[in-house]
Amino acid sequence: MSHKPFAASTERNSLPILEVIRREFQHASSVLEIGSGTGQHAVCFGNALHHLDWQTSDLIENHGGINAWLDEARLPNVHKPIELDVLTAEALPQDYDAVFSANTAHIMSYEAVVKMFSLVGEALRENGIFGLYGPFRQRGEFSTQSNADFDRSLRERNREMGIRDLEALDKLGESGGLVRERLYAMPANNCLAVWRKTAGVSDDNT
Ligand SMILES: C[S@@+](CC[C@H](N)C(=O)[O-])C[C@H]1O[C@@H](n2cnc3c(N)ncnc32)[C@H](O)[C@@H]1O
Repeated sequence: MSHKPFAASTERNSLPILEVIRREFQHASSVLEIGSGTGQHAVCFGNALHHLDWQTSDLIENHGGINAWLDEARLPNVHKPIELDVLTAEALPQDYDAVFSANTAHIMSYEAVVKMFSLVGEALRENGIFGLYGPFRQRGEFSTQSNADFDRSLRERNREMGIRDLEALDKLGESGGLVRERLYAMPANNCLAVWRKTAGVSDDNT
């Protein structure tokens, strides 16, 4: 069996996130996770929420680690990762009731974030939910000095990375019918933003 990667921050934030998605995904069945990373979230959430059919995904280099967690957990409702790079994907493989992603928007390029919102808007069913966890700026401000320092360190590492403005993400969601419904304050200066897919604007006048 391959080595199970472990992220201490993912371990710490799993239960607080679980309590939010327990409520937000209560009417969902099919869920796509974008950027499953180590696979820890998928195992924690799939184990606690049996009504969810949880599809993991990530860039191919993370599949070995995700599979190591899934092979050990053997959860019938959590599925082996599909290869998904939101920047290059033309579409998501199917429609979903919910999409979840954690700590991805500040890691991928802004171009990829734009693409992620477009793919999610297309693939979510009406009334579907997109839950995005991570640090955000609001009204152009960092919530804390530590988030500002984190943003600087990300941009020094790679100029394409950086903490995103929540209002800019709201704008990205608009064209796909995503409207932000809630914003949960989470531990360690993070938030969980929840957008709902509303009925599309019809251009059919007949
Ligand atoms: C900081 S890790 C977060 C992993 C996990 N969600 C968590 O919270 O522990 C960022 C994740 O984003 C994924 N990622 C980066 N660029 C991506 C892209 N263009 N498409 C899909 N996933 C991407 C990485 O492979 C990685 O798994």
